[in-house]
Amino acid sequence: MAANSDSTGANARSSYYVTTPIYYVNDRPHLGHAYTTVAGDVLTRWHRQRGEKVWYLTGTDEHGQKIMRTAEAHGVSPQQWADQLVEEAWKPLWEHLEIANDDFIRTTEDRHTARVQEFVQDLYDKGEIYQGGYEGPYCVGCEEYKTPADLIDGEGEYAGQKLCPIHKKPVEMLKEENYFFKLSAYAPRLLELYASDPGFIQPESARNEVVRFVEQGLQDLSISRSTFDWGVQIPWDPKHVIYVWVDALLNYATAVGYGSDPAKFEQTFPADVHLVGKDILRFHAVIWPAMLMANGLPLPKKIAANGWLMVGGEKMSKSNLTGISPQQLTDHFGVDAYRYYFLRAIPFGTDGSFSWEDFSARYTSELANDFGNLASRVAAMVGKYFDGVLPAATAAGPAEKELADGLAKAVAEADDRIGEKLDFAGGIAAIFDFVKQVNGYLTTQEPWKVAKDTSEAGQARLATILYAAAESLRGIAVLLNPVMPRVSGLLWESLGAEPVLGALADQQVTEAARWGLLPAGVTVTKGDILFPRLEEKKQDV
Ligand code: MSP
Repeated sequence: MAANSDSTGANARSSYYVTTPIYYVNDRPHLGHAYTTVAGDVLTRWHRQRGEKVWYLTGTDEHGQKIMRTAEAHGVSPQQWADQLVEEAWKPLWEHLEIANDDFIRTTEDRHTARVQEFVQDLYDKGEIYQGGYEGPYCVGCEEYKTPADLIDGEGEYAGQKLCPIHKKPVEMLKEENYFFKLSAYAPRLLELYASDPGFIQPESARNEVVRFVEQGLQDLSISRSTFDWGVQIPWDPKHVIYVWVDALLNYATAVGYGSDPAKFEQTFPADVHLVGKDILRFHAVIWPAMLMANGLPLPKKIAANGWLMVGGEKMSKSNLTGISPQQLTDHFGVDAYRYYFLRAIPFGTDGSFSWEDFSARYTSELANDFGNLASRVAAMVGKYFDGVLPAATAAGPAEKELADGLAKAVAEADDRIGEKLDFAGGIAAIFDFVKQVNGYLTTQEPWKVAKDTSEAGQARLATILYAAAESLRGIAVLLNPVMPRVSGLLWESLGAEPVLGALADQQVTEAARWGLLPAGVTVTKGDILFPRLEEKKQDV
């Protein structure tokens, strides 16, 4: 948990509020879940290093038929099943990946269920919910009624059956007396919202898909189920449980004090960014804002859809996993490289395939060679030529000015791309362009040759080059900290920066471009190698 959890409401400044989807606990987390959660964490840390107060929420979605059936199949109660997976798999993975979430909400907690009932009761009292019947194909994997046009024809073992296009499993025909939310009435207001705020749904392709979908007209939404009981009861008719998606979406409100802590709610809600996989975009960009409109609550500022991690041309899921867990990758590549790789390699919003070879190649060339070697070379030279005491730059010229400009450019570009546009790949690339520039600077300046010139001018030049390189690394550590906190911390330590500049996490990204922040005289040490050479190990994926 990060230290800035402040539920007192004492600080009137509102929080930048980031959420992940709450994940189904029918199984352990896989690479796809970790992808969204790491992205949210980088965004969170970036905004914290802008000096903003951030609230980062993740959690688990524990009701519904999918969880109930999994628990039954394992001979335990759904609650036992969820408790065990949350404690043994979900929370430990987020800790392992250094996810700095402020809260972890579980939909079976009282703080959630009681408020969900209140919300739904409010909608009922406002006449937004009515009783009716529904019959249609249902996908338990999606926990969603499908329209016949959504379905695809089964082949092989499923020949003659209609399948869910996402899960590639047969849908079930369901017929129920349900309660319905008047979603259809909100289509015009939703279209107005998408038109007035083109950045509401990101990326544009996702926005266009949602607009097209809503333009076709919306059906009212069945918000209760009566054929099973693993869910939150409808308060006025306890034979029904609330539809798991209505229950789940409300976590974004209940976790930040809806109905229980008005000051916290006021300060945090609505979300600045809901990060979601593109599979669940419609729930967030259509149903969720309509629910909020119906209850007179403010709307989120942005729904950002990430693409899918793919395996063999299909969305990576529990059933078609690579066989590789996040932990196996971190065992081999380390947590920092793991956090880096997926965000660097796949433009956010588009689908991408994971490849062991690509990961190894980027690890070696970008992380170990370009970045890690740079850090250790600079520390080694300050050690060798100046006994580890960073010298002052007394003979700076155009080459150093160019370097300072390069850092300023990287800061501006990365801040705009990561902080504003959620273009993680572009932002990280901008930082690494600067890493390359610093390498190029050293190649051109050849400090190892300058070192042989023992004249005063020669030594002043050597000092200036090494100062410039170390100062560049100072900027790089600040910019990479949100992405790779452990390794950036090691670099910060090796630069001797903490005693004079303070903790790395407190360094503002926007200030990182101020050339000359690292004072001469700090003790530079050659710390641990940032990215050790990879063991010879290869796996087929
Ligand atoms: N419980 C719902 C979400 C409710 S939010 C109010 C759900 N859970 S899920 O466990 O299926 O996880 C969904 C999210 O996990 C996706 O939206 C996405 O963010 C992430 N991913 C799961 N598989 C993924 C990939 N193969 N690739 C990228 N992200 C993936 O839906």
